Amino acid sequence: MTMEILVISVFSIFIMFALLSLHVSPCLPFTNFVFGDSLVDAGNNDYLFTLSKADSPPYGIDFAPSGGQPTGRFTNGRTISDIVGQAFGEMSFPPPYLAPNTTSNTILAGINYASGASGILDETGTLFIGRIPLREQINYFEQSRTTYMVSLMGERGTQKFLKKAIFSLTIGSNDVLNYFQPSIPFFGEDKVSPIMFQDFMVSNLTIQLKRLHELGARKFIVVGIGPLGCIPFVRALHLVPSGKCSVKVNTLIQGYNKKLSEVLDRLNQEMGPEAIFVYANSYDIVSGIILNHHQYGIENADDPCCGGYFPPFVCSKGNDANTSSVLCNDRSKYVFWDAYHPTEAANIIIANTLLNGDDRVSYPVNIRELYNYNP
Ligand SMILES: *[C@@H]1O[C@H](CO)[C@@H](O)[C@H](O)[C@H]1NC(C)=O
Ligand SMILES: *[C@@H]1O[C@H](CO)[C@@H](O)[C@H](O)[C@H]1NC(C)=O
Ligand SMILES: *[C@@H]1O[C@H](CO)[C@@H](O)[C@H](O)[C@H]1NC(C)=O
Repeated sequence: MTMEILVISVFSIFIMFALLSLHVSPCLPFTNFVFGDSLVDAGNNDYLFTLSKADSPPYGIDFAPSGGQPTGRFTNGRTISDIVGQAFGEMSFPPPYLAPNTTSNTILAGINYASGASGILDETGTLFIGRIPLREQINYFEQSRTTYMVSLMGERGTQKFLKKAIFSLTIGSNDVLNYFQPSIPFFGEDKVSPIMFQDFMVSNLTIQLKRLHELGARKFIVVGIGPLGCIPFVRALHLVPSGKCSVKVNTLIQGYNKKLSEVLDRLNQEMGPEAIFVYANSYDIVSGIILNHHQYGIENADDPCCGGYFPPFVCSKGNDANTSSVLCNDRSKYVFWDAYHPTEAANIIIANTLLNGDDRVSYPVNIRELYNYNP
């Protein structure tokens, strides 16, 4: 065989493989519009004047794309929404809406509107000054729909594009935390009954879901509230011993989650099958992880890995202090990263459960099925 023929045949084999891989490629892009609080904020609060920021080490210490530098994520590594995106081959994460380099060019991955300290109710998070409440996050989505999408693809093209995208909402934790914090003047326990507070949250969230639907969203993941009565911050404040959770806080959350899942059932009946609303049962998933943590290779489900167990719960390296002094030895062995947020290790377990779990954890379908669903 001459060199030339060898080159040609190697080349044609290469082409054949390229065509073959094009043909079998499952690469439906994973477009995710992310709404929520610090559980999924990917850096929006870095652009706000706020006390709720994760812009200093050791936040991000295990986040490979930034080389371990902080990105504004409120954990050591990836958030649940990062991990889910990667499971579908997403190469770049939805950029924060407020980042100056977020443009029409980055729209294929989606956009992240989430903001630490924010809640369903506009008043939530006032103590932290800057934050983007859910209503405003959706105003921002409406703006980006016009400036980044309709201008690029036209109205019809935008509708087609949004029909395939996934809209996830991870919000409500801060509303509950504020409710139980007496220093906050708006909707304290003393002013509004737990039942009424749950109803405020659910009805306001429903309004925002309907707005998104009007703007073209069809595939929704609505994440319930996790067992906040078990997080280090709440346990310390309510003097709950280790291994136990605040019953009062968890009872309010379970009532809210039940009402939320009923509303989503109703929306599925009214708007399905052209739209689908998935309820993500983070309460049972996280409770299961805390209860059976040894089963998952986790050793500590009580203490935060970073910062103290007591107020003011600062997880920060400071100016000249040694990072290792504020950190636990093995981050992969803890459920909690700081007093409020899960570690990447816990986020991986939660994300995998939502991706592949049965209808007890993700209803009516799991996230893998939602991804393949064509409304
Ligand atoms: C946008 O800017 C941030 C911060 O400078 C950078 O980390 C990120 O890689 C940039 N993203 C794109 C798509 O250029
Ligand atoms: C929404 O929440 C507010 C309090 O922030 C409450 O006054 C209102 O009744 C709630 N429900 C609706 C449907 O707006
Ligand atoms: C940080 O602390 C560890 C253990 O206490 C020590 O081995 C290491 O040298 C310290 N690093 C710096 C930069 O001071």
